[in-house]
Amino acid sequence: MKGTNRLILANIWVSVVAFGIAASMALMQAISRANLEVPFQSARMYYMSVTAHGVLMALVFTTFFIMALGYATAQRENGEIALPRFAWMMFGLALLGVAMAVWAILSFKATVLYTFYPPLQAHPAFYIGLTLVVVASWGWCASMIASWRESKRRNPDRAVSLAMHATTVNCLLWLLATMGVAAEMLFQLIPWSLGLVDRIDPLLARTLFWFFGHPLVYFWILPAYAIWYAVLPREAGGKLFSDPLARMVFTLFLVLSTPVGLHHQFQDPGIPAAWKLFHTFNTMAISFPSLVTAFTVVASLEIAGRLRGGTGLFGWLRALPWGNPVVSAVLFAGLLFMVGGFGGSINAAYSLNSVVHNTAWIAAHFHLTVGSAAALTFMGGCYWLVPKISGRELELALLARIQPALWFLGMVFFSFTGHIAGLMGLPRRVFTTDFGGAAQAEMWKGLTSASAIGGVLLFASAGLFVMVMVATMLAGKRQPIAPLEWAESLGEPEGGYRPGIWDRLWLWFAVAVIMVIIAYAVPLYDIFQLERFGSPGFKPF
Ligand code: CU
Repeated sequence: MKGTNRLILANIWVSVVAFGIAASMALMQAISRANLEVPFQSARMYYMSVTAHGVLMALVFTTFFIMALGYATAQRENGEIALPRFAWMMFGLALLGVAMAVWAILSFKATVLYTFYPPLQAHPAFYIGLTLVVVASWGWCASMIASWRESKRRNPDRAVSLAMHATTVNCLLWLLATMGVAAEMLFQLIPWSLGLVDRIDPLLARTLFWFFGHPLVYFWILPAYAIWYAVLPREAGGKLFSDPLARMVFTLFLVLSTPVGLHHQFQDPGIPAAWKLFHTFNTMAISFPSLVTAFTVVASLEIAGRLRGGTGLFGWLRALPWGNPVVSAVLFAGLLFMVGGFGGSINAAYSLNSVVHNTAWIAAHFHLTVGSAAALTFMGGCYWLVPKISGRELELALLARIQPALWFLGMVFFSFTGHIAGLMGLPRRVFTTDFGGAAQAEMWKGLTSASAIGGVLLFASAGLFVMVMVATMLAGKRQPIAPLEWAESLGEPEGGYRPGIWDRLWLWFAVAVIMVIIAYAVPLYDIFQLERFGSPGFKPF
């Protein structure tokens, strides 16, 4: 097996193991929601498990899968990745970082949830570990950008593949976004957790966190979109509706992903209302490329369905190969994302946000987006990628076929009830469901129980995914290692597309930097002008 394939599989292994641990944490939380008396139900256990679930799912499972997909894309582009030895070193560094953070969480030294808001304070190993993961991801970006340049050098008259374009955009977006969290870690959280300073400014920390936190969402979504555009049409038996439109979509995300972070801080004091509104406008603008995506992907699927003999208004939908888990995972992910996308517009609206802020609605929302649009697509992506890379057939294929539908069903129970309960006032991040016997809590009980059923179904689905992956990687029947094949697009000219305006990524990166300066210079300046008191750290457990 080639070295790069080994590197890709190593990343997938970390991803799958993190996913498995995170899913078992979620089961405990789901059972607590069902108003059952369970021995492990305590505040300490709950906040530890929510932290572990959030960090392992949202930061570890996603990042390692995204790196694996990036390496596979770059290898497909040039026959080899740029900086292969360096990439292995970065894998080791990321693994060390994960080990440090996970140790701190599982030994109850970091019950700060995955947003790690100060003044809640964690053990330094938690912050330093996560910082190492970010540094290692920068190394991955270096390998990806060098691969992109190599592809352009080899074929100066041809645009790079759409998947390579998407990967490179994602790296540039990530480099810009992680500046925020790196500043928060290096200048605030790490010195404070080491005891070098005794106070921290929570408002500044939250602002730097969300400078990073919203584009983080797109760091998850862009690889999912890459699969929707570059893999799904071919798997479904059709063609991509438009390659240039897809290229534009990815480039727009580079420009618009970062100047929107204040939509997570509408309720924070100390930030002028006008700037919050400005970030609302930018957020509405960023829904445009997602609407284009919905249109393009559905059009591509319709082409596939009609080529397979589907007729009529909706007959093409039935004609799609739902039995192929790569296709069904992505289709279910897309269906859930439609609901999640509309919910996101509500969260981002300055006035409507106050209705849903800090309620169960928010957790329900991001389980449709990162928890389905990204996570379920990544699972489908594993079913597609791992057999090709490992040279092993997909094992337990029947379970893989059931798994996406089970996830969909679980998410409908879990997330739809969460949205409703949130509108009825159920706060998020609270470990009991009886709220000290409050009368209001009675109204929520039916919904949280239904949501718990959803959690159990999701856990079952997660278990199937892990079983399929482990069985495939350890014991799948041998088959030849296959090259990745991207979907063709309609109207593709002979010899491929020529590079166009949306391919000039350094230009768009410069525009993105200017957008960030416009969106953040004044609010950050204002924060520094406020009288600053700071807060000592709190460790509740
Ligand atoms: Cu956001």
